[in-house]
This record gives sequence, C-alpha cells and structure tokens, in this order.
Amino acid sequence: MLVLGIESSCDETGIALYDTQKGLLAHALHSQVAMHEAYGGVVPELASRDHIRRAIPLLEQCFAAAGVEHAAIDAIAYTQGPGLAGALLVGASVACSLGLALGKPVLGVHHLEGHLLSPLLATNASYAPPRFPFVALLVSGGHTQLMRVDGVGQYALLGDTLDDAAGEAFDKSAKLLGLGYPGGPAISRMAEFGDPLAYKLPRPMLHSKDLNFSFSGLKTAVLTLVKNHPANICEQDKANIARAFVDAMVEVLVAKCIAALKQTGLNRLVIAGGVGANAQLRSALNAAADKKRFQVFYPELEFCTDNGAMIAFAGALRLQRDPAAATHDYAFNV
Ligand code: KG4
Ligand code: ZN
Repeated sequence: MLVLGIESSCDETGIALYDTQKGLLAHALHSQVAMHEAYGGVVPELASRDHIRRAIPLLEQCFAAAGVEHAAIDAIAYTQGPGLAGALLVGASVACSLGLALGKPVLGVHHLEGHLLSPLLATNASYAPPRFPFVALLVSGGHTQLMRVDGVGQYALLGDTLDDAAGEAFDKSAKLLGLGYPGGPAISRMAEFGDPLAYKLPRPMLHSKDLNFSFSGLKTAVLTLVKNHPANICEQDKANIARAFVDAMVEVLVAKCIAALKQTGLNRLVIAGGVGANAQLRSALNAAADKKRFQVFYPELEFCTDNGAMIAFAGALRLQRDPAAATHDYAFNV
C-alpha cells in the first residue's frame, strides 16, 4: 500500500510517500523558519500563505524522487490537527482535492499520533525500532505528554503539562535571552558554553507524586535572572542562564520518564517531538538508560521536528489496521 502524507500544521510544509512494503520512498520538507524569524515567532497568516505556495511543488518533487505516478497511491493522509487552523486547512484542501481528482480515499491523522509513531519509522538498516508496548515522551512546541503505547491507536495518557509545553518554554526562554526563533536549538547550543554552577533554576514538579509537568515557572525564573542583569547582558552570562535552563528542563524530563517506566513496569522508552532532537536531553536519557537498564529510542533527527514522513507513516499504520479508516467523503474537517 502506498500512502501520500501531507503535514502543514505549523511552519513546515512536509510531503512524503510511504510504501508499506518498501518503506519511505521519498519525503520533502520546506521550513518557514527564515520567514518567521523576523517576527520572533510564527505568524499564522504568513504560514498559511506559504503552505499554499509550497505544497504542490514539494508534492511534485516527492513523486519525481520516488519515481511513481500520482495514480499509484492508494490513499492520502493529512494532518487534521492540532495546529494553526489556516495552515491545517491548506494541507486538508490539497489532500482532499487530490483525492477527489484521483479518486483516492483520504484520512485525517492526529499530528501527535504522527510524532508518537515516528520512532517506529526506520529508514536505515542500523536502526531497530522498538516493539510495543512502550512509554512515550512526547515533547514538542505545543505538547509535553507521557503516554503508554500498547499498539497503533492504543494510547493511554499518563501525564501532561499543566501549563507551558517543553518546547514553548525553550522558545520563550530563548526569546528572553535574545537568542531568536526557534529557541530550542539556539538555547541548546548556547548552553554548551555555560558554567553549570553559575545559576540554579527550579525543577518544577520534580517531586510531585504524579507524572505531570509544569514549565511556566521555569520560564519566569529565566525572566527574573534576565531582569536582574544590566541592560547589556554579556554572552557568557547568557550561556550560563541557558545552561541553568537546560539542566533544569532535562532533569525534570528524565526523572518523569524514569517514574513513568517504573509506574508501568515497562523498560522501553520512546522520545518523540521537536525537543527530542535536544542533545543534552539525549545524553542524559542515554546515561539514565545505562544506569537504570531500560532501552531508549529516538526518531532519526530529521523526523523529530514536523515532517510529512511521520504523517504518511502513521496513516499507513492506521490503514493496515483498518482499511476503512480512509474515506471518499472529501468534506474535510480540521
Ligand atoms: O515537534 P515540533 O517540530 O513542532 C510541534 O509540533 O510543536 O517541535 C517544535 C519545538 C520548538 O519549540 C523547538 O524550539 C523545539 O521543538 N526544538 C528543540 C530542539 N529542536 C527543536 N528544543 C530543544 N532542543 C532542540 N535541539
Ligand atoms: Zn509537531
């Protein structure tokens, strides 16, 4: 079965072709980061307009790279939500128009399910994906969730953020430090040069008995540190604050993952979403996995942040389980 995937929930237009026999045939991505950078964050109207400009050329690029005809696809999966309404409408419109023109069924995929299943997508022989069941930490710009995953479509929420998502805290803290957008990679790079002993920031909910998170206090602690500095905060101090922020964030995320493994009795942990690309988080999780004897799996770096491959892949897995999941009713809903 060959599935076309379309992702347009935020500031990345992603298109991919996934074949259930042959794997990922092609994927193409356009990031709007450069366009939104000047505004310090995503401007929804600009995002939608850019998806319109990019979707069809990327789609053609993908078909050409895979060497398949449009008519060869069996279904079209598109991101149904959550995301920016206008941006989602573009992907859904392209999917449904193409479906109507080719007579192919469409299915809406939950964006988080795409992230959640992305560590199962193996595109090189050296990566062995995890078996079910596993615990998943979903850390993106909009979500921070711990989930028990027993199979495709079998997800139980174990913990969630009570306020800001991890990626949101990265982005907002980076903005306070004048590090630009998107903040996650920038603050992570800056933290490498920071003195770990210069500042200590709070570890929100580290000792709460549940698996929930809260990151707005951490962001406020960064704000307080920044405010306490003279107008021209020096680069070393920025690095020290970045380091304190990353250390606090990573300690909380790792501790909650270990607690979730303990609570479920599972020993496989899967990391998904943009913050899963974070180098400090990966090295702390790897160290914890060695020490506590669990296995940790990450999607390949290019599939951590938003992309079309995870949507094509999640759509294909859904269809394998339930061929009726795709429909010829093109009155879409996002
Ligand atoms: O999954 P994603 O691409 O989009 C959402 O669904 O939200 O995640 C984007 C988030 C942003 O907040 C970005 O700053 C963060 O992931 N991010 C990172 C890194 N790369 C992306 N955060 C920390 N370290 C990184 N290397
Ligand atoms: Zn995402």
